[in-house]
Amino acid sequence: MCGIVGYAGTKHPKDILLDGLKALEYRGYDSAGIAIKNEKKVQVIKSVGKIKYLEDKINNNSLIDSNLGIAHTRWATHGAPTETNAHPHNVGKVTLVHNGIIENAGEIKNKLISKGVIFNSDTDTEVAASLINYYYSGDQIKAIEKATSELAGSYAFGILFDDSDMLFAVKKGSPLIVGIGSDGNYIASDIMAIINYTKRYILPEEDEIAALSANSFKIFKNGKEIKKEILTADVSVEAKSKQGYEHYMLKEIMEEPLLLENTLKPFADDMSLIPDLKEYSEIHIVACGSAIYAGMIGKTLLEEKAAIRVYCEVASEYRYKKVICDKNTLVILVSQSGETADTIAAMRKAKDMGADTLAIVNVKSSTIARESDEQIFIEAGPEIAVATTKAYILQVAIFGLLAYKASGLKNLKREIGNLPRLVKEILDDRDTYLKIAHHIYKNNDVFFIGRKVDYAMCMEGSLKLKEVSYIHSEAYQAGELKHGTISLIEEGTPVFGIITDDDIRDKTISNIAEVKSRGAKVITVSNENVTGYDLGVVVPKISDFFQPILVVPCLQLIAYEVAKLRGCDIDKPKNLAKSVTVE
Ligand code: AGP
Repeated sequence: MCGIVGYAGTKHPKDILLDGLKALEYRGYDSAGIAIKNEKKVQVIKSVGKIKYLEDKINNNSLIDSNLGIAHTRWATHGAPTETNAHPHNVGKVTLVHNGIIENAGEIKNKLISKGVIFNSDTDTEVAASLINYYYSGDQIKAIEKATSELAGSYAFGILFDDSDMLFAVKKGSPLIVGIGSDGNYIASDIMAIINYTKRYILPEEDEIAALSANSFKIFKNGKEIKKEILTADVSVEAKSKQGYEHYMLKEIMEEPLLLENTLKPFADDMSLIPDLKEYSEIHIVACGSAIYAGMIGKTLLEEKAAIRVYCEVASEYRYKKVICDKNTLVILVSQSGETADTIAAMRKAKDMGADTLAIVNVKSSTIARESDEQIFIEAGPEIAVATTKAYILQVAIFGLLAYKASGLKNLKREIGNLPRLVKEILDDRDTYLKIAHHIYKNNDVFFIGRKVDYAMCMEGSLKLKEVSYIHSEAYQAGELKHGTISLIEEGTPVFGIITDDDIRDKTISNIAEVKSRGAKVITVSNENVTGYDLGVVVPKISDFFQPILVVPCLQLIAYEVAKLRGCDIDKPKNLAKSVTVE
């Protein structure tokens, strides 16, 4: 997704803006640009491709003196990734960067064209800049308010005006923070973009306008200045570094044992901290991507262990389909970033229908964290790699806790006491995963099969492999494969068999025999020895509530090793964004 950064201060903005863009690379982008200005001139430099190209272009340009600027990484939505479509967009007296989608851009563009406005790009962002410029007659706040009152969709804008030395910003539906520093003030899509300069920040609410200068900041709502609390970020600068690991993805996987310890211990010490889901007649679990696969594990555990009726749906469906939910429903939103557009929309729909909402979320300052009724924070710290690993594992752990509490069992300490140590031992067994990776990294199709909770793990194992190695992969209910897809199994096709659920162990083993007899190269991941197959990983057998936490890290490391063998851009896979803030 796009990322925005801005600075108004005492220093030249170039390095601050480039630092910020590099910290936002993980969000996914295909072009980037900066705009710096002084009282006489606005200088805009843009480029397609990696920020490195932009940086080279900037360094080959003579830059104007400046203490004010905005910058942007663009993930193309309206208009191809070209320099013309890259941000910042300069229209008349307005220069602007944007994260989000203006849904009524076409209608507004036609209105402005009928008034003689000329457009150069195919973007909705240029329409927004043109509308602000159209209404601008010297009062920046008024022009921003008037224009944004006509915009439908989502936006986080950073805005400069030719005749002002201030930086303006406003958001609706997209993330935006305002950083308060000693050498100036900042705007950014997330705190990691400016953490090298300040940990103090303000969270503007929807349509609150920030007006920043080098040594002042004001927030306006409906034309009036309002007071806002200054928060302090609980992230560290070292969280941005790889701390000696080759990739953020590997660093974040290796953090899992300690994070599990930190997340689970408070609940083990005091189970009353775990929400009791038994009071609801029905639970809906709604999320996207890996988060919904964590939710699928939660669904299976809550149904099997606590006999609670659970409906599990991807947010992009839930937000539009007919759902039955009311005050007796608890809707659990699962989101690492807390800014996923579909999940936000699903949360708002559930709230409008009278349901209680519980967020299992990582980013405390996020929209989902702030708008949900209750929250369980997973304390994963910043997750930089686009492919989620540590956040996903902690989401699964939280579902284990919720199911354990709902099951009425009372000895959580015994259940989870060894978990972090067991995960560490599993992660240390790198050679096993590298050996498996060597077996599959040249294949073009890989299958994952399992039943019930094992199938939910297959979904995540398959997504991880696809995301970082670009190998096509499918997760299939083991019993369903023979109803068609087994026709794709050829000599040497890798098939992962995930087998941890005792009730259906033999059934899955039979399904594995079916693919084996058709030439598949079978890799089993189980909590018991499974003999007779090409490769296998055996993890310790522990309580069903937390068994997935020993299985999925194996699949994460296998995906990592395969991607490395294939020379992929592991932390920033092509086409992907860390937080999908548009639908
Ligand atoms: C997971 O590796 C992907 N990056 C993606 O599926 C992600 O889980 C999904 O976009 C949801 O993101 P969220 O948890 O921030 O809402």
